Amino acid sequence: MELRKINKNDAKAQLEYTTALPTDENGLTNPYNGVSYDDYIEKVLPTLISYEHPVNMPDWFVPETYYYLWDEGRLVGEFRIRHHLTEALKSGAGHIGYSIKREERGKGYGTAGLKLTILEAKKIIPEDEIYLRVNKDNIASRKVMQNNGGKIVGEDDGHFFVRIPKYFDCGNAG
Ligand SMILES: CC(C)(COP(=O)(O)OP(=O)(O)OC[C@H]1O[C@@H](n2cnc3c(N)ncnc32)[C@H](O)[C@@H]1OP(=O)(O)O)[C@@H](O)C(=O)NCCC(=O)NCCS
Repeated sequence: MELRKINKNDAKAQLEYTTALPTDENGLTNPYNGVSYDDYIEKVLPTLISYEHPVNMPDWFVPETYYYLWDEGRLVGEFRIRHHLTEALKSGAGHIGYSIKREERGKGYGTAGLKLTILEAKKIIPEDEIYLRVNKDNIASRKVMQNNGGKIVGEDDGHFFVRIPKYFDCGNAG
């Protein structure tokens, strides 16, 4: 299993994933649901790649790197790391967002993919803790976080706020 940064060589598999990912599933948003091959190659892929080193983006935009989880030649999930917090991210979506391909869920990929993503996040983010947020009714995602050392530190009407200390050793999680 490996986490691969978004890239042009994997365009076909990434497109298939992106075009099938719902517009909003449990707060994980995707404005590119249903995108065509041509649009993906010409616009969406260059845009998503550029988010790591944003150019001409508004001040509030935090650099974000997209990764895909691969297992035995299959792309099974997507993980996004926002490089640092803002006030909006602190009380919102936090550092990391993820999803697993519908037919690959419940096989441990969410847990294993977050573990690999945390290893990357530790190299990028300056904060001492990784901030995450999960809808209260999203049991699977909450478990993915808790399997990786996530602790619930607060809540609002619809969400739990979860943090993972950067020094937490995930051990054999996943
Ligand atoms: C949340 C998500 C990433 C989980 O991925 P996954 O690959 O199914 O996760 P895992 O297989 O590692 O399962 C983690 C735990 O959740 C449990 N689980 C999986 N699907 C479940 C379901 N539908 N209902 C209840 N529990 C579930 C697993 O049994 C496992 O439990 P365990 O830790 O006690 O063994 C996936 O369901 C998904 O992509 N959902 C849509 C997008 C989303 O919600 N993203 C997260 C936003 S915060």
